[in-house]
Amino acid sequence: MDDLEQLVERAEREFGAAPTPAELENAKARFLGKAGSVTELLKQLAALTPEQKKTRGAQINQTKQRIESALLARRQALADAELDAQLRAEALDVTLPGRRRGGGGLHPVSRTMERIEAIFASMGFEVADGPEIETDWMSFTALNNPENHPARSMQDTFYVDLKDEGGRWLNLRPHTSPMQVRHARAHAARYKGCDPMPDIRVIAPGRTYRVDSDATHSPMFHQCEGLWIGQNVSFKDLKVVFTQFCRLFFESDDLQLRFRPSFFPFTEPSAEIDIAFGSGPLRGRWLEVSGSGQVHPNVVRNFGLDPERYIGFAFGMGAERLAMLRYGVDDMRLFFEGDQRFLAQFN
Ligand code: DAH
Repeated sequence: MDDLEQLVERAEREFGAAPTPAELENAKARFLGKAGSVTELLKQLAALTPEQKKTRGAQINQTKQRIESALLARRQALADAELDAQLRAEALDVTLPGRRRGGGGLHPVSRTMERIEAIFASMGFEVADGPEIETDWMSFTALNNPENHPARSMQDTFYVDLKDEGGRWLNLRPHTSPMQVRHARAHAARYKGCDPMPDIRVIAPGRTYRVDSDATHSPMFHQCEGLWIGQNVSFKDLKVVFTQFCRLFFESDDLQLRFRPSFFPFTEPSAEIDIAFGSGPLRGRWLEVSGSGQVHPNVVRNFGLDPERYIGFAFGMGAERLAMLRYGVDDMRLFFEGDQRFLAQFN
């Protein structure tokens, strides 16, 4: 093999061995650069006769062209490899599902409130809404809870730095019971002259506030008040309505109710309603779910109605308590810490 053929082979081998474009350019310099092998060969032509120059010159040119095309081929191969690697690194798997923002959802207490509303609405109850900042009269006096009466201290009330027209401090309502008064008065006014007045049948869900905080109490919590007033509404109706509500709410037919005597200023007689599940983890344990009672004649009078003609019952339950029982949550504070890991479980 002559020296030129060897040179081409050597160039092909060295170009082929260059792993990167930069190293390929170094290899190129060794053959085609100013001090490269091909340039050296061309310099040697000077010593030859014109005849020899012609043949040898043509051979060297051919060699140079072959080395150049080997260089171009390797450059292309390295560029292709680089592009391949890049495409592989940036590969998209178009079959993967898209990334979505986590869908929001209703808070478990909101879910509970909506559930309570839907069930009572299905039983013909209106849903009423009212202010969270209340007057002393609405929160207490109208509910047969007179000033200086010890029953007022049943609730550790938050007061607001504002007074009503009578100079009494406004309060953050400690229960939804003022809505009994607000709704009944509006109802009585609307049906003034209508004899008999159509029954009042309403629930009033909403936020309530008390100076209270532990595993089963939160300073802000939710209640749902219920009121049914008519000419012939009795404790029996309360029992039927509330039993039906509990069975629908807890999706359980083998649930039992118990009315335990209690005291509330706005009802007489008064009872705590306890329930017991017939199955499940809480089976057989009596659990308090609501206060209730026959509305006191003084309260009916404050509704603007004659207690000799209108009678009925009221109840008030804590929404968090119902949510805790339904979902098996043992600490009320979890509802209000805003921890997504807890809340996401309900969506
Ligand atoms: N307001 C009471 C409370 O917050 C609950 C309650 C008890 C409401 C008896 C009522 C009722 O309407 O009849 O503890």
